[in-house]
Amino acid sequence: MRNKTSIQGSWASRWIFILAATGSAVGLGNIWKFPYITGENGGGAFVLVYLACILLVGIPIMMAEVFIGRRARKNPINALSDVAEESGGSRKWGLIGVMGMLSGVLIFSFYSVVGGWVLHYIKAMLMGDLAGTTSDQAGAAFGALLGDPATLLIWHTIFSIMTIAVVAAGINKGIETATRIMMPILFVLLIILLGYAMSTGGFAEGWNFMFQFDFSKLTWNAALIALGHSFFTLSLGMGTIMAYGSYMTKSASIGKTVLTIGALDTLVALVAGLAIFPIIFSNGMDPAAGPGLMFISLPVAFGQMPFGQLFGTMFFVLIGVAAWTSAISLLEPTVAFLVERFRMKRISASIALGVVVWGLGIACLGSFNFMSDFTLFGKNTFDFLDYITANIMLPLGGILIALFAGWVVKDKFAQDELKLPEGIYKLWNISMKFTAPIAVAVVLYFLINPMQ
Ligand code: PHE
Repeated sequence: MRNKTSIQGSWASRWIFILAATGSAVGLGNIWKFPYITGENGGGAFVLVYLACILLVGIPIMMAEVFIGRRARKNPINALSDVAEESGGSRKWGLIGVMGMLSGVLIFSFYSVVGGWVLHYIKAMLMGDLAGTTSDQAGAAFGALLGDPATLLIWHTIFSIMTIAVVAAGINKGIETATRIMMPILFVLLIILLGYAMSTGGFAEGWNFMFQFDFSKLTWNAALIALGHSFFTLSLGMGTIMAYGSYMTKSASIGKTVLTIGALDTLVALVAGLAIFPIIFSNGMDPAAGPGLMFISLPVAFGQMPFGQLFGTMFFVLIGVAAWTSAISLLEPTVAFLVERFRMKRISASIALGVVVWGLGIACLGSFNFMSDFTLFGKNTFDFLDYITANIMLPLGGILIALFAGWVVKDKFAQDELKLPEGIYKLWNISMKFTAPIAVAVVLYFLINPMQ
């Protein structure tokens, strides 16, 4: 392992890595998906399982991904192979990276569609189209958007081009600049929205919904969704964090860095929930409304509050920014692979991949209209891809990375990167060898063989 830097470049400082990885982690997963799956799965108990998964499974696996990437300074496939070889293991471990690339491509195809919805709402807010909407009207407006493939296609295309342009510009000029400017704005806007939510009558109810733990509402399926979401929200199990880790400076502490990223990501998800549920309850809306939850609740709230048009536009810009920085990171591992393995130019690799994911995205946006009759295992394309990537592929990738880091990589190499105090290293190692793989395996097992 003699590479000092990746051929793609490296982050200017530890903080830039934290910002970039947080930019990847904080996205639609936090602001759009977390509130709606919490709503669908009954609130409190689901949130608790989710938090436990972040702490016990997500954070340790994130440490593994960062150190593998940083040790090899290559794209995830080659990084896994090189680190395996160094410890006397098979280069076939690189295959985890192949599954990861596939997960990234499949996630992007529905992610960019939702990114497109967000762009549409920025415009609608800015134009005042949603001023004074009631909850019924907001639901109808969202339904009308889903039923209009031409509009969806335009926004999906714009979102895809925005993302590919940054990836093509490379990690320093592209991702780093985007992150430096956008992440601070995101935090400020979120705090403004939370302030508004606290002033609505529904805050206590929203709080209780999220933090009163009623375990009778918890099912194995809900536990799987909580587990899968902990991977999705931290961008784990598919090589994104590994790729970002490969651009990280050697001197930075992996443990502290990863804890910061995990804490920021969790904070944003909880704040997003605390901002959205009060709006839902104070307007008598249904917390289990599904993927439209954010798109039908926020316009109502912004329609009622003073300066709602301004705040509403700002808020959707915030979500757009968060989605954008995450979407970039979904493509980065594959682009790095194409550049390193096939010596492609970054720009050609980005465009080639971009065309593929854009095309797949059309099948996802069609799920709500011209392709709504097409189903796989009873789900439309959009739901199917969301389900298998987040709930099956990412946890499976995560288990394999944990087993690899725990059983294959020699302690001295892991510690050379992690530099953890002895006791903490033991805990991390136990998590890699046993806790994380067993937790994921148990949940997957009961999903396939339900007890009820
Ligand atoms: N973490 C991102 C989010 O929460 C999604 C993502 C998943 C990004 C996997 C990269 C890799 O929106």
